[in-house]
Amino acid sequence: MTAVVAGIGAVVPDRLVTNEMLAQRLDTSDEWIVSRTGIRQRYVAPPGCSTSDLAVGAAERAMQSAGVDDVGLVVLATTTPDRPCPGTAPVVASKLGLVDVPAYDVSAVCTGFIYALFSAAGALALGHTESALVIGADTFSTILDPADRTTSVIFGDGAGAVVLRRGHEDEPGALSGFHLGSDGALADLITVPDKYFRMDGKPVFMHAVRRMTESSRTVLAQSGWTAQTVDRLVGHQANVRILQAVSEQLGIPEDRAVVNLDRVGNTAAASIPLAMADAAKDGDLVAGHKVLLTAFGGGATWGAATLTWPDVIAG
Ligand code: ACO
Repeated sequence: MTAVVAGIGAVVPDRLVTNEMLAQRLDTSDEWIVSRTGIRQRYVAPPGCSTSDLAVGAAERAMQSAGVDDVGLVVLATTTPDRPCPGTAPVVASKLGLVDVPAYDVSAVCTGFIYALFSAAGALALGHTESALVIGADTFSTILDPADRTTSVIFGDGAGAVVLRRGHEDEPGALSGFHLGSDGALADLITVPDKYFRMDGKPVFMHAVRRMTESSRTVLAQSGWTAQTVDRLVGHQANVRILQAVSEQLGIPEDRAVVNLDRVGNTAAASIPLAMADAAKDGDLVAGHKVLLTAFGGGATWGAATLTWPDVIAG
């Protein structure tokens, strides 16, 4: 038995922030941001809108997409929990009306969604539960230094979620392979040392390309796939130049790489499910597509997963 994607949903808050708006208060320009990252705009949560609010919005859409009103497990990937203690997943489960379900947070920064997917898929494969909600949600705007142009232009807020159910390896939606890794010696590259998030962009870029490529190769071999058979690469939406480099090194044509960071920026743990939901809504991701997911994030952490896209309507 394995885990099968049965539904997907995503949300972004309504407050749109364009590059031009950032350039009015920071020493930056639309030209710099677009040419160095590919990002044109992002959405920011208004005061009072927390990570759990966005997570609930995405989860409701995913449950509607799957046609279910109950699940047996909630795993939430986030770096911006509502509070340092307790975890945010039980709050999300409670807001969804899920009673007595196991619910926990996963902290792996931008790789969080793949780590959370791995954790839930394991619980399903072992028969501990029949269904699970896997959510990636972040409000990075709450930890960004408004005066730091190197991070303020990159991140946006959002949430994405999938419903998983127990199923067979040959079903559409089946998750077929995983590879995860970490290197704590790189912990200082992406960190919140005090009040604000800090990132050493250049080495992060280099490590991201290397680790996303290696992890993808490992998971492709494990799944018995080749780069040529991949229909869509859904990479962590950090920088379009990273996505281009990874697809080039893997030998996956660039037009098979899903890109939505131009519209939403880097939404951290929400990035991959948000990109999958957007691509499914746009008709760019269709049933039967062989999909490769890969991410790199703080920790450092990285990972990749493969799945066949199911016949679902994204919410
Ligand atoms: N506007 C204008 N100029 C800027 C800006 C800005 N917003 N930000 C930096 N600059 C300047 C720098 O000060 C530097 O100026 P200098 O040459 O005079 O010193 C110049 O632009 C080049 O800066 P770099 O940092 O070398 O720019 P780079 O091309 O590396 O792009 C970026 C920076 C976009 C952050 C890139 O390094 C990157 O995408 N890194 C990877 C991020 C990533 O993958 N994150 C994933 C994990 S994130 C997570 O886990 C939460």
